[in-house]
Amino acid sequence: RGDAAEFVPDSHSLTRLRSAARDCHGCDLYRDATHTVFGDGPAPAKVLMLGEQPGDREDVEGAPFVGPAGRVLDRALEEAGVDRSQVYVTNAVKHFKFVPSERGKQRIHKKPSRGEIVACRPWLLAELDAVRPETVVLLGATAASSLMGPSFRVTAHRGELLPAPDEFDGHPEQVLPTVHPSSVLRAPDRADAYAALVADLRAVP
Ligand code: URA
Ligand code: SF4
Repeated sequence: RGDAAEFVPDSHSLTRLRSAARDCHGCDLYRDATHTVFGDGPAPAKVLMLGEQPGDREDVEGAPFVGPAGRVLDRALEEAGVDRSQVYVTNAVKHFKFVPSERGKQRIHKKPSRGEIVACRPWLLAELDAVRPETVVLLGATAASSLMGPSFRVTAHRGELLPAPDEFDGHPEQVLPTVHPSSVLRAPDRADAYAALVADLRAVP
């Protein structure tokens, strides 16, 4: 089984990385998706936001967090006093994974497998080298699994600034786990879930 490593150029230029990622066949997810959705934002950046994978809108537009989850994230960042323009935003997995709905009109998001998360990780490692963030905000379980390993539990640590594993060599120095913004949209009490996300994001240094 392959991964993205053979497609990742030896470069710290986000422009070069982004362009090479368009041709990645590191796992099967490129087959049905429209675009590789690479990260977006300034480099270097002190803060990197790590999501799961692009959604339907992101797949169409080719940019991260531009759909409904992105609107929740933008609003929550603003309310938490984090300047979105200073933040690099990306995903653990760069292609949209979906199944067609029963009548075939919609594309239903599917969670990436551990194998797909691991296959795509070389792109994330290259982004960390290029962006050199001090803090990575882990938006949900997939992001946490990619950076911290599969046994890390977001619910046990949400809103806490934790030291990043030594393998990252200070980039990042710390991680901030929280929930995924789309979980706010599915929560029984959206207002509560949204307020808890904002409270977690206030810990962004
Ligand atoms: N959800 C994510 O995790 N990332 C996106 O870019 C959009 C929705
Ligand atoms: Fe490559 Fe990641 Fe897309 Fe798989 S999901 S094809 S590893 S960019």
